[in-house]
Amino acid sequence: MAEQMNEYFALASRPAGTPALEHFTVKKEELNMPEDGQLLVKTLYVSVDPYMRGRMKDAKSYSAPYAIGEPITGGSIGRVLHSRADGFKEGDIVAGGWGWQRYGIIDSKACRRIDPELAPITTALGVLGMTGLTAYFGTLRIGNPQPGETLVVSGAGGAVGMIVGQIGKIKGARVIGISGSDEKNRYLKEELGFDEVINYKTDQPLAEALERACPDGIDVYFDNVGGDITDAVIPLLNRNARIPLCGQISLYNQEKPELGPRILPMLLTRTVLLKGFLVGDYAAEQEEGLRELGQWVREGRLKYRENIIDGFDNIPEAFIGLFSGENLGKQLVRVAEDEEN
Ligand SMILES: NC(=O)c1ccc[n+]([C@@H]2O[C@H](COP(=O)([O-])OP(=O)(O)OC[C@H]3O[C@@H](n4cnc5c(N)ncnc54)[C@H](OP(=O)(O)O)[C@@H]3O)[C@@H](O)[C@H]2O)c1
Repeated sequence: MAEQMNEYFALASRPAGTPALEHFTVKKEELNMPEDGQLLVKTLYVSVDPYMRGRMKDAKSYSAPYAIGEPITGGSIGRVLHSRADGFKEGDIVAGGWGWQRYGIIDSKACRRIDPELAPITTALGVLGMTGLTAYFGTLRIGNPQPGETLVVSGAGGAVGMIVGQIGKIKGARVIGISGSDEKNRYLKEELGFDEVINYKTDQPLAEALERACPDGIDVYFDNVGGDITDAVIPLLNRNARIPLCGQISLYNQEKPELGPRILPMLLTRTVLLKGFLVGDYAAEQEEGLRELGQWVREGRLKYRENIIDGFDNIPEAFIGLFSGENLGKQLVRVAEDEEN
């Protein structure tokens, strides 16, 4: 094999506040060969995700913090260059968690094979991967929108949010999306059929904009964002409303938690269900979720959008852009051209 070296991104230091390029560094190492049960994979695409910000803190959470100087792991797709695992062969496309590296050496049990005939391979990191499953299980298992109910989703122009809104429409709900850009909102309304859209940066006061958009109150609030947006949504919740608590991106860069209005009395008196969830909680039902999402995509009922930036060197920039809303849909980075295609 011509290439003998691997390159990967590591944390140079832990960000305080919003991450910047200086917090990331490229490391080189000799490329090893896989051992029994492993694959050597050439990375084609990597995912950048808001949850990675949590792993940049030295704090106990549901997944371990990234170690300084070690590869930043996360969702990736690549082509198998060498297999020492049963059931995988050279040339296969796989998705796994080796992250921001040019090559991955991975345990075959920790990856899944992708069939490029079924859908573009990038969808395995988006609508037909972790992102789609997050929207699917959060909306259906917790939000459970009913025909005629009102569903509000924050972070609506992002990867998870735009799928949530479309699932809400499939289930017959009236869907209101909140995002930070008119361009995103135009797409949500004109292309995806959202009923109303709100720009949280310009439609102020937000509470009044929400009241206008939700004359019958809110039955499901899919929360991707938290902070001021959630504070404005809570007073409009109807009796027995449900909140799938998916993410709190507006708070991820805070060093100290900020106190908002005390919302628990409102949740109490309206008998609201607030449930935090992690997509991994639904691992046993993953196949079912992917099957239904895939069917909706094939039927044209579920559209997806990917924001693809080119170049390994641009991975940190793509990640940082999540916090200023650069992406419409799923943010990915193309690390290498797939020479087989
Ligand atoms: N629970 C789980 O298992 C799970 C799994 C996946 C993702 N998540 C969470 O789901 C949320 C969405 O993830 P995603 O992958 O779909 O990311 P994304 O929405 O594609 O990207 C992040 C978006 O968040 C918005 N945003 C950033 N900072 C904000 C702020 N301060 N206030 C309001 N909006 C802000 C930006 O859009 P604007 O232009 O609208 O500002 C940005 O485009 C995140 O909170 C993530 O942590 C949870």
